[in-house]
Amino acid sequence: MSSESEYVTDVGYARHFDEDLSPSRLRLAAALNGFPTPSADTFDYCELGCAHGDTMNVLAAANPRARFVGVDFNAEHIASAKLSADGGALENVRFLERDFEALRADDFPELDFVVAHGVLSWVGPEKRRAILDFVSSRLKPGGLFYVSYNAMPGWAAVEPLRQLLVSRTLGVAGDTSERARQAVAFAKQMHDAGAAYFVQNPAAKEMLATMEALGGEYVAHEYLNAHWAPMYFAHVAWEMTTADLHFVGQLPLFLNYRDLAVPPLVRTLFEKVVDRATYESLKDYAINEFFRRDVYVKGRPGRNAALTNAYLDETPFGLSAPPPDDREVALPHAKLRLVGPVFDALFGALARGGTSVNELASRPDLAAFGRDRLRASLLRAVLAGWVIPLLAETHTEVAPDSAVRVDIPSPYNRMVLQRAGASAQPLVLASPASGTGVPITTIEALAIRVLSEVPMTNRADAVRALFGEKVRMSVGGRSIEDKDEQVRIVLDEIEAFRRWKLAKLIELRVLQA
Ligand SMILES: C[S@@+](CC[C@H](N)C(=O)[O-])C[C@H]1O[C@@H](n2cnc3c(N)ncnc32)[C@H](O)[C@@H]1O
Repeated sequence: MSSESEYVTDVGYARHFDEDLSPSRLRLAAALNGFPTPSADTFDYCELGCAHGDTMNVLAAANPRARFVGVDFNAEHIASAKLSADGGALENVRFLERDFEALRADDFPELDFVVAHGVLSWVGPEKRRAILDFVSSRLKPGGLFYVSYNAMPGWAAVEPLRQLLVSRTLGVAGDTSERARQAVAFAKQMHDAGAAYFVQNPAAKEMLATMEALGGEYVAHEYLNAHWAPMYFAHVAWEMTTADLHFVGQLPLFLNYRDLAVPPLVRTLFEKVVDRATYESLKDYAINEFFRRDVYVKGRPGRNAALTNAYLDETPFGLSAPPPDDREVALPHAKLRLVGPVFDALFGALARGGTSVNELASRPDLAAFGRDRLRASLLRAVLAGWVIPLLAETHTEVAPDSAVRVDIPSPYNRMVLQRAGASAQPLVLASPASGTGVPITTIEALAIRVLSEVPMTNRADAVRALFGEKVRMSVGGRSIEDKDEQVRIVLDEIEAFRRWKLAKLIELRVLQA
């Protein structure tokens, strides 16, 4: 079987940025599980199956001293990845149009990070072997490998739906996306006619609704590859050991904490299990895991809890979003509450700029809490997703007044903003302060353009011009037709943006006042 007949290539993959692939997130996963972390400053990074390079390009722009290589065998994907890299004047990223099996002939540096997102359970055994051989020969000892895959037992009830789609696409004319659309339409007819499979498997019903909502291109890539097969953690972990790769931890980060990941009653049944791999397999049953994002390390550097504390104490952290008023995050099986004086003090301090626990513990107003308590509270804020690691300390300026003009120092970010609304490229800006991307909305992109291009007095005119003639807008379900009202709404949004997110983007060095 040729690679093209095994894997969908006639339909482009959906474009998106995935923050879990950022080196800072992978370092966090290693550090919180007690493993050493690769350098945060200069490192070599490779994505296998990079599609349009939307994650790679943002990461390259956000980590200008590191080097990135993206690999994909789909010519259309690699062409669009290169186009964005060139448009953003990125000199530290290259893209290779290659099958995984052909990679051994290429010249690669020793790598600190390799990632393969959405690849492993979609390719056959030869490609998986090629991936593992590549990682085993090119990843440095102590380097991190991120791999995500469809997992069992979450897929148990839904797997037959995929088989139904495959059987309905055999011999049907049209590109894969059109065949997928027709197969989903047929499955829907089965569902509506009361086929017992859907009646007795609510998860399959839900998945069918998702497929209908996301459309033919999504279904083609997600389900119609010849080797699609969900995998058990134990099997993947065993396959990894054949490449000297050993399990580190899972993303999202809260899944590494038993009290946050597993419902209490089930947890008591295996609380005495100390072997992490056995625990992971049992956890997948406890939460009916459906998609795993795992981090592995090359070699056996050994786990050491002191490394976690050292990382949390020394790394600067900053707020990624304003903590919500109720200070509570509902996880699937637990609640994370971040209330009390230590959290008030911590969030108050981080609102003035990103810094480390060591530095916070030396401040007169925070010293009384003690370093251990500050570190434990910071960790909870990281698990809540409200605080992120930074590459250096930052300082938050009071939001500039409305007369401000902002600069966009990165050519990559300028290109993303220029294309906003006119291209499928995700709206994610590179932050050299955090080494990762910052997603923005279309209206925020518009706000940045207005703040960077137009003096205060002309802003209403500028919004009118940027917005074009015919814009469909609705607020709270009410359709807004009147142009003046539309402009007023956008100017209000720009003002709201200026008050909170603008200061954050300046702190993260995405913008300059
Ligand atoms: C599900 S997509 C994930 C894309 C990307 N990692 C992301 O998160 O958006 C898998 C990618 O792997 C690529 N791919 C699949 N098999 C491949 C092979 N044998 N060699 C190289 N690339 C391959 C596909 O073209 C596709 O872009």
